[in-house]
Amino acid sequence: MFAARHWAVWLGQWTAIVSSVTAVNITDIQGPAFQSPLTGQAAQNVAGIVTAKASTGFYIQGPSVSDVRASSGLYVYSTSSKVLNAVVVGDSVTLSGKVQEFRSSSDPTYLYGTELGSPTNITILSHNNTVKPLVLGVDRSPPTQQLSALDVGRDGFLSVPNNQSRIDVVNATMQPNKYGVDFWSSLEGQLVTVPKPVSIGFENSYGEFWVRGDWKATGVNTRGGLTLAFGPDGIPDANPETIIIGSPLDGTQNPKMCVGKTLTDITGVVQYQFGFYYILPLTAPTVLSTPDPTVSPTKLKSSSNTCVLTIGDYNVDNMGPESSHLPSVAAHIGDYLLTPDIMFLQEIQDNSGETDDGTVSADVTLSTLTAAIANISAVTYNYTEVISENDQDGGVPGGNIRPAYLYREEKVSLVKGSPVGGPLNATKPVFGHDGKLTLRHQISFNPGRIDPINVAWNVSRKPLVAAWETTDGHRFFTINVHDASKSDDSSSIQGDPRPPINSDVDQRTSQVEVIAVSDFPFRILQNNMSLGDAQTFVKSILKLDPLASIIIAGDFNEFIQTRSVFAAFNGLVFEADELAGIDPVERYTYVFDQSMEQLDHIFLSPVVSLRGVEVEHVHVNSWAPDYDSRTSDHDPSVARVRIC
Ligand SMILES: *[C@@H]1O[C@H](CO)[C@@H](O)[C@H](O)[C@H]1NC(C)=O
Ligand SMILES: *[C@@H]1O[C@H](CO)[C@@H](O)[C@H](O)[C@H]1NC(C)=O
Ligand SMILES: *[C@@H]1O[C@H](CO)[C@@H](O)[C@H](O)[C@H]1NC(C)=O
Ligand SMILES: *[C@@H]1O[C@H](CO)[C@@H](O)[C@H](O)[C@H]1NC(C)=O
Ligand SMILES: *[C@@H]1O[C@H](CO)[C@@H](O)[C@H](O)[C@H]1NC(C)=O
Ligand SMILES: *[C@@H]1O[C@H](CO)[C@@H](O)[C@H](O)[C@H]1NC(C)=O
Ligand SMILES: *[C@@H]1O[C@H](CO)[C@@H](O)[C@H](O)[C@H]1NC(C)=O
Ligand SMILES: *[C@@H]1O[C@H](CO)[C@@H](O)[C@H](O)[C@H]1NC(C)=O
Ligand SMILES: *[C@@H]1O[C@H](CO)[C@@H](O)[C@H](O)[C@H]1NC(C)=O
Ligand SMILES: *[C@@H]1O[C@H](CO)[C@@H](O)[C@H](O)[C@H]1NC(C)=O
Repeated sequence: MFAARHWAVWLGQWTAIVSSVTAVNITDIQGPAFQSPLTGQAAQNVAGIVTAKASTGFYIQGPSVSDVRASSGLYVYSTSSKVLNAVVVGDSVTLSGKVQEFRSSSDPTYLYGTELGSPTNITILSHNNTVKPLVLGVDRSPPTQQLSALDVGRDGFLSVPNNQSRIDVVNATMQPNKYGVDFWSSLEGQLVTVPKPVSIGFENSYGEFWVRGDWKATGVNTRGGLTLAFGPDGIPDANPETIIIGSPLDGTQNPKMCVGKTLTDITGVVQYQFGFYYILPLTAPTVLSTPDPTVSPTKLKSSSNTCVLTIGDYNVDNMGPESSHLPSVAAHIGDYLLTPDIMFLQEIQDNSGETDDGTVSADVTLSTLTAAIANISAVTYNYTEVISENDQDGGVPGGNIRPAYLYREEKVSLVKGSPVGGPLNATKPVFGHDGKLTLRHQISFNPGRIDPINVAWNVSRKPLVAAWETTDGHRFFTINVHDASKSDDSSSIQGDPRPPINSDVDQRTSQVEVIAVSDFPFRILQNNMSLGDAQTFVKSILKLDPLASIIIAGDFNEFIQTRSVFAAFNGLVFEADELAGIDPVERYTYVFDQSMEQLDHIFLSPVVSLRGVEVEHVHVNSWAPDYDSRTSDHDPSVARVRIC
């Protein structure tokens, strides 16, 4: 302590020789816009109290001003141990330095953060001062819906086209009462408290986790997380009232998280890093309560009624015959989904799993799974797939992931008479001798793929179509979908490009379009009407074709709130969650960053829609007590539909 003070005084004497003195307040450095008005300039005699120390700098806080846009906190950047050792938390200091806007070179889509670099003339005026943290929810509260005024478009932060402008280029003055990025930016460097935090996801590999606090939040679901849903004005709600908690500054370890833990109050400094505004806590919080990990099995059971079918939908996360999570997938299908009549599976790997040896069939994977299910239930499933073309469908190299079906032969069978498709065979409807719809409702390859050489499916899974019949002869179609993945090429929703870059959104849009306008199934539905007539058609669908029952389900890798992606389905098929009247905040199958969200959807043709549907998302994975005990990253879903 003595040495450090001695050094600071020495530095003061040295800098006094070379510079004149102009006092600048922290709020002047921060200013009301995203970038400092003083960027690149020397700031002298900046006064503040040290609130926190990090490995590459420390945080100071000065008097606040009535303009809430101008933060009263500031990060002082230095890697010099001399500088870092010169101050302790509670010191009232003055110092000089250079105002700079810093962005990590690792990602050009991150925002800039304001900091004071090259600190000199650090003078300690007194010790043991306290700074009262700003209490979130009391002193100021985050907005609850939108992230940025630059997210123009009907779908808010999910609008297409995205990447149309940049926060740091526009450099607008902030609107912290309205926009989340602006709100957290206006607190940059400041000491804040999150009262009564609730965790809203699992921790990431660095032990960081998202919370909401004791302030107004919208979209809160019964588990305590925040669902990505539409806001009251019809624009998607990005959940800006959440904040990620970083590694504790005192070297303690954050506890493990899951959705819905309650925690002791968290106090820390606001810092932009790795694409998000963080609170870096002074110390780790402790867990006060943990939610009950019990998940109830579905109430939607298979029955002997031949017209009523239960369907399950589950992305089983890269599952091969040797996968350690295969028994757990079997247990989910048996014990929680209660062995639905038809299972739509995605991410079934070939028989050699991730070994890239040219194996393309998945019959061993599927028979291993059906044996494991038979072992724990009274149900022996049959299964069907179209084998893949090697290494053409994306996913883990060598895995050849594909959609596949399990089905209960005592309820349904594949319509006979057509061969199983090969990877490049496009299945088409088989028309009757009159050239019109056929009551046979057959397809040329059963099961088969939709237009597999269409460029929309490049390096992606091709949808698997099947024509089925019940034991008393009623026929219907299913389409099992696994659209192109969201990838690391997306930008953070708190990043610079606006609306945020949603990688491969154009491919997912094309994929939905190809399904919607392909010969199958809508040529059948439309009775050869043009796509433009579709709306007119839907109004009279029952009159035109009372028999076309179509169930589309799978992992679309997109939220229904990205309306542009699903536009081609408008008026043709209807989302089961909407039809079933599921509370919008309970519609989720995935936990990611600040939101619980629905990537997995079930759509029904008009006739099936009109007969009524029930849906449940079974949260065996989203409600897992910790990250490692999840079986898949997706929750499965079950629906009960009437196909006659
Ligand atoms: C160094 O800091 C001291 C204490 O605030 C101040 O009096 C002096 O003017 C500063 N020197 C320079 C060159 O800024
Ligand atoms: C710094 O802020 C204080 C308190 O608001 C104010 O009295 C003072 O004039 C400001 N100093 C400068 C240099 O702006
Ligand atoms: C950002 O906006 C502030 C306030 O209007 C202005 O002083 C500053 O020069 C701007 N910075 C850049 C890089 O545009
Ligand atoms: C600061 O306060 C602590 C007790 O909280 C005390 O032990 C210490 O001596 C004080 N330091 C100074 C420099 O006043
Ligand atoms: C986003 O836009 C910038 C120009 O502002 C461009 O350089 C960049 O390549 C674009 N990124 C994507 C993924 O489209
Ligand atoms: C069936 O269950 C038994 C006992 O739990 C187990 O040893 C066996 O490996 C299982 N067989 C399959 C095919 O899952
Ligand atoms: C499964 O269905 C296929 C096609 O209908 C049939 O050939 C096969 O025998 C069935 N397998 C079992 C195990 O029942
Ligand atoms: C199905 O595809 C295979 C190649 O995968 C091809 O040899 C065969 O002719 C195709 N069948 C039809 C009817 O197009
Ligand atoms: C409907 O379209 C199919 C496929 O293009 C065609 O083969 C059939 O002749 C058309 N039927 C009518 C009634 O126009
Ligand atoms: C298919 O995707 C790959 C990898 O993304 C790309 O290199 C290739 O150009 C694409 N092919 C077509 C026909 O779009």
